[in-house]
This record gives sequence, structure tokens and C-alpha cells, in this order.
Amino acid sequence: MSTPLIQISGLEKAFATKESWLGQWRFHRGKFKKHQDSIHALNGVNLTINQGETLCVVGETGCGKSTLARAIMGLINPSAGEIHYLDQRIDHLSDQQRMLFRRRMQMVFQNPYASLNPRMTVYQTLKEPIIFHNPELSLAQVDQQIDDLLESVGISASSSDRYPHEFSGGQRQRISLARALSVEPDFIVADEPLSALDVSVQAQVLNLMMDKQEERNLSYLFITHDLAVVEHFATRVAVMYLGRICELAPTNTLFNQPKHPYTRALLSAIPRLDSNTAEPIRLIGEVPVPTEQPIGCVFQARCPYANQRCYDESPAMIAQEDTSSVACHAIEEKRL
Ligand SMILES: Nc1ncnc2c1ncn2[C@@H]1O[C@H](COP(=O)(O)OP(=O)(O)O)[C@@H](O)[C@H]1O
Ligand code: SF4
Ligand SMILES: [Mg+2]
Repeated sequence: MSTPLIQISGLEKAFATKESWLGQWRFHRGKFKKHQDSIHALNGVNLTINQGETLCVVGETGCGKSTLARAIMGLINPSAGEIHYLDQRIDHLSDQQRMLFRRRMQMVFQNPYASLNPRMTVYQTLKEPIIFHNPELSLAQVDQQIDDLLESVGISASSSDRYPHEFSGGQRQRISLARALSVEPDFIVADEPLSALDVSVQAQVLNLMMDKQEERNLSYLFITHDLAVVEHFATRVAVMYLGRICELAPTNTLFNQPKHPYTRALLSAIPRLDSNTAEPIRLIGEVPVPTEQPIGCVFQARCPYANQRCYDESPAMIAQEDTSSVACHAIEEKRL
């Protein structure tokens, strides 16, 4: 039985667009009116992350994945909705209240070059959080923890007095992971942690993350656009489009029976040896920029199955018999 660790409900985030003062005025019915566009990066996201699972989030650039990650980590305040960690509400916490969660939740970023302080040695980088979260440890114990942690991510303890630029990209990402693990978190948000790395190194970092998960019953929210990684690594997959989750399914179910038209199009682009359907589904139309609160289905402009209802009414997530959930009128109406 899976136990929820993080529960997200009705999460919304709108960013005010940075227009010049003059650009904010619009001529409307004979008068100038002030008009501020905003970007609706998240539009009512509901999601549960269970203890010990890897929930992968996939979707095109700009669909709101990083915004979701940052809202969960408390790096931005949502415009609406709630985020719970076990039974504690954690959105809109003050900095001081959030300190209690800093230890339990950690984030690994896309760019290991930018996320490590270039002026700190690896030893200094790891020492700070370990001392902060374990003030009772002696210096010798701290040093021992740093050595153990580095060895556990495949970095020689003897290189701990080196600076980030002296390591390769893959080593740096493993050091970032060591830093995240240094406080023994329950939950790690990884926002495209592999995309700056060579393919051979990606596998090493991924295997390391899986080993750590097994050792510590860690939960991951793992953002990636690499579907091969998703298939290998995810327990469940959330497919996002324009600030909404359109399909959520256990990994096998998603890859064997994708349901939402967008998921089908995404998966059809992966070449498969065993596949009979050779032709990828081409998505027509641009990804719209979410400046307006969408009316109807967010995928309507690119969907070959859209009907009038899709333009009028936003589809709700509906649970399917195979434990996946899909937000699509065509699926509900059984015409797809
Ligand atoms: N700080 C910000 N200010 C204004 N717009 C933002 C900001 N952060 C993200 N956005 C916009 O929100 C949308 C979602 O962005 P993001 O969450 O980064 O998407 P993803 O990570 O899926 O590529 C995009 O249209 C992006 O331009
Ligand atoms: S709700 Fe309508 S527009 Fe949206 S994905 Fe389903 S069929 Fe397409
Ligand atoms: Mg992103």
C-alpha cells in the first residue's frame, strides 16, 4: 500500500509579465485602460507523490515543470492551491517555518556548473549543511561523514579540497547529489538533472540515484524530457501540458496504453524495435504561451479529436480501470 508523502491540490501559479509601463496600456472602447498580462504557468495541478516512489514529470519546454518543482520546494509562492508534506501544509511558510523542511526536502538542478558555489571546495560545500543540520557532531565525525558521502557517490575522498571547476560535469552532478543527500532527506526534486551530461555519464548518475533510493527509501520527483529515462526509472509518470496534468499513470501502463492524445503523440516519437506503428504522430500548431487562463481543454489547438465541448469545458482528471487517470473528453465519451 502506498503512503502519500506530498499532496498537491488545485495548484496555480501566474507570473506577471514584465511589460514596460507604456506597454501596459491598451486602447479599448475609446479609452486607454491599464492591462497586465500574466503567464499562467500552473493551472490547477493535483498530484500525490508516494513514499519511496519516483514520480517522473514529462512535457514540452514551458509547460510548467520547473514552476511545479519550485513551488513544491518553496522557492516561489503559488497563486492558489495547497501543498502538504505528510499532514502539514507547506505552501506559504515563512522562511523560519520552512527551515524544518529544508532537511527533509532537497533539490538537484539541471546545471551542476551553476548549482555549486565555485569559491567553495567540495569539503566546504558539504561541511556547511552537515554541521547546520547536525550541530551535535564533532569535527572528526563531520569529516568522516564527508568522506563517506563522497565515496558513496564515487568521488575519491582525497579530492575533497578541490574546487568545482576541477571536476567533470558528471562528477559535479554527483557532488550536487552528495550535497542533497548530506542532510539525509526523505524527498528529492530533480529538475532535468541529466540534461547537461554526456549519455554515458547520465547512466552513472541515474544508477547512483536509484541505489540511493533503495538504501534510504527516498522519494523522487524527477523532471525530464528523456522518455527512455522515464521508462527505466519512473514508478509513475505525470504528463504535463500548458500548466495542467493531462495523464497520470504507472510507467508500464503509460508506455503500453497511452490514452491522452498528447501522451500518444509524445510516445509515438520514440523509435521502438517491437512496434507495428511506424509513423510518429505529428503535432500540428505551436505550443501556445499560457498568457490567458485557458477555457476548455488546454490541448484543443493541437488535438485532432477536439469537438465543441473541448472548447467550452475543461476536462477533469478521470480515474480509469487500469489505475491511470486521464483528462480528456474524448476518452470519457469513449470516442477515443
Ligand atoms: N519567473 C518567471 N517570470 C515570468 N514567467 C515565468 C517565470 N518562470 C517561468 N515562467 C513562464 O512560465 C511558463 C512555465 O515555465 P517553466 O515552469 O520553466 O516550464 P518548463 O520547466 O516546463 O520548461 C513558461 O511560459 C515560462 O516562460
Ligand atoms: S479534451 Fe478534447 S481537445 Fe482535449 S485532448 Fe481530449 S479530445 Fe483533445
Ligand atoms: Mg524547466
